[in-house]
Amino acid sequence: MAAAASGRQAWRQVMRAPASSTQKPQLGRQSEQLLQRRAASSSSSSPAAAHSIIQRPTAPAQQQQQRSYSSSSQSNNSSTPPPPPPPRGKDKNNLKFWPFLVVIALGSSSYILLVNRRKEMPAVPPPVSSKTSPTFSPDDVTVLFVLGGPGAGKGTQCARLVKDFGFTHLSAGDLLRAEQTREGSEFGALIRDCIKDGSIVPMEVTVQLLENAMKDTIATSGGVSGGAKARFLIDGFPRKMDQALKFEEAVCLARLVLFFDCPEDEMERRLLERGKTSGRSDDNADSIRKRFRTFVETSMPVVDHYEKEGRVVKVDATPTPDAVYRDTQARLTKVLGDNF
Ligand code: C5P
Ligand code: MG
Repeated sequence: MAAAASGRQAWRQVMRAPASSTQKPQLGRQSEQLLQRRAASSSSSSPAAAHSIIQRPTAPAQQQQQRSYSSSSQSNNSSTPPPPPPPRGKDKNNLKFWPFLVVIALGSSSYILLVNRRKEMPAVPPPVSSKTSPTFSPDDVTVLFVLGGPGAGKGTQCARLVKDFGFTHLSAGDLLRAEQTREGSEFGALIRDCIKDGSIVPMEVTVQLLENAMKDTIATSGGVSGGAKARFLIDGFPRKMDQALKFEEAVCLARLVLFFDCPEDEMERRLLERGKTSGRSDDNADSIRKRFRTFVETSMPVVDHYEKEGRVVKVDATPTPDAVYRDTQARLTKVLGDNF
């Protein structure tokens, strides 16, 4: 995973500018440094050799400076004979060209290495949209984010809310799993790695999948204008602050976060039980541990952020599903009214 990350970074750097413009300045700097180092070490042992290395690549302005220095020293010491011309021949040519050959060889091999690594890399998410206003207005679309640790019972509670209150349930995890196995998806390998590892898929992918699903739902139901509000439960999202910010900036402002709070040992028990039949690659002890860590370190700050804004409805998710659902209904009614 670390290798993939550093690979992606390298790819992004290459993507910022064509190979010719990223490589050339590097080669130029390297060759300059090599030349200066070579000149400094040679000047102590052989002034003539240093003279030949520095002279050859100097720009006209530097040559001018060197020339005027010589002429002033000549005018100050008119009796001093001019320095002997630099030696010519085989040795001098070797000294001039071998640093260039080394630099060109190094540059070419690192370029080939980059190109080869690019071929092995997973797809890179599309660039972040530069859109400044959200696709949907909260006047037309109600969004409730549903958060909680893995195994807290988000999916179970969402299914009940859909049945009783006509929400559309969109699970970010389900959308990612569907994208992972969709034929021709450029993100399949990336999503597979993240899910197995319990880490967060780059937000561009998840936000785009959610926006597409919302558009499809609204289009299928005949649009939002003039009709009843579209209402979405977005389950398992946002799992990271960048997802929250991007979604609210580009897609829709959320009404609130429904947070199912559950202790880890209870969630672990549920996940291991579910793992017997779920067939999910991440319902095993190792992935579960990583998912818990990601939840505490990355997703809890999102809950804290919305809590500070007074947009969290917190429910204790330890009891039975029936009991949790009763509590959920009661709390949502308090905040959103009877017909939420
Ligand atoms: O919500 P669920 O447990 O189905 O998510 C499974 C995995 O999908 C997460 O562990 C994570 O790797 C990925 N995911 C994500 N971003 C989200 C939701 C899920 O990266 N918002
Ligand atoms: Mg789920």
